[in-house]
Amino acid sequence: MVTCSAPGKMILFGEHAVVFGKSALALAINLRITSSVRSANQYSVNGHPMKKRHHMYISAALDEAWGGPPINIDTSSEIPSGSGLGSSAAVTVSCVGAMMAHRGGIEPEKIALKSFLVENKVQGRASPTDTSTSTHGQGIIVSPERLDNFLWRIEQGQRSWNIHHCAVPKLHFVVGYTGIHASTGPLVAGVKKLADSSSEAVRAIDRIGEVVLEGVDAMAASDKKRLGHLMDENHMLLNSLEVGHPELDKLVEACRPCSYGAKLTGAGGGGSMIALTDDPHAVAKAIQEAGGEPIIVDVGVEGIRLEDGGMSRKR
Ligand code: PMV
Repeated sequence: MVTCSAPGKMILFGEHAVVFGKSALALAINLRITSSVRSANQYSVNGHPMKKRHHMYISAALDEAWGGPPINIDTSSEIPSGSGLGSSAAVTVSCVGAMMAHRGGIEPEKIALKSFLVENKVQGRASPTDTSTSTHGQGIIVSPERLDNFLWRIEQGQRSWNIHHCAVPKLHFVVGYTGIHASTGPLVAGVKKLADSSSEAVRAIDRIGEVVLEGVDAMAASDKKRLGHLMDENHMLLNSLEVGHPELDKLVEACRPCSYGAKLTGAGGGGSMIALTDDPHAVAKAIQEAGGEPIIVDVGVEGIRLEDGGMSRKR
């Protein structure tokens, strides 16, 4: 049996715009999904026969990264599904990693590519942000240009993304989960439709791309005030792309008095928001009182990890 775990993520800046080839900045968080792979008589997931309809990411991961004899995959998750915290990426990355490790060793670049292809297939359209963050961990910058600290490049059709390591300073974030399950695919499709028909939406996407670059500089300078302002602006721009939700706005507003800034994170339409603060407990209380579920998270954690220590990590 081989076991791998992979972290969830929060997108600090750039969700949705990154699908159009703009930059994004994402951080790995200390909520993980663990997947184990072992030989079996039939393909199964958590002891039940695998069904493509129910296990969309796992069955697509099998098509992309396995093709061998039947296996059972056991998964356990600390990440609420549909919360905007990258549960689908973490399940995909940990499964692809465990399948690869079962065959001899894990190669982060290959895992990131295969996992992106899985998400793109299941969601219909995706960027490699979540899957690369879950693979590499720490922080990543996605950019149309190649920058310093380059990790790998992912191409798909006409689109391509350069993935870079981003050092993460000590920052305190609190997640506020609305409890509203939102599917990424339809939200991504909605933004595409809007961008095809509205020049205002195209301008918002362009501005998000600039916010990301300003955010990267603010991050390097550990400038929390600037980061907070940019988070507020990014939230407003995402609302203009119609991926907001009244419950997200409620939580964002509730955090304002005790945070540098706050925004929705991930696909939106429900899911989660994040706030940057020096006082995580005050923010957690504000989120709870406004009806959300607060999660105080550590950011910049390790990426894909072999849990049984028996296999090598290929370079
Ligand atoms: O729903 P999440 O948390 O996996 O975030 C999706 C982020 C998007 O930018 C909306 C889509 C993508 O593939 O980058």
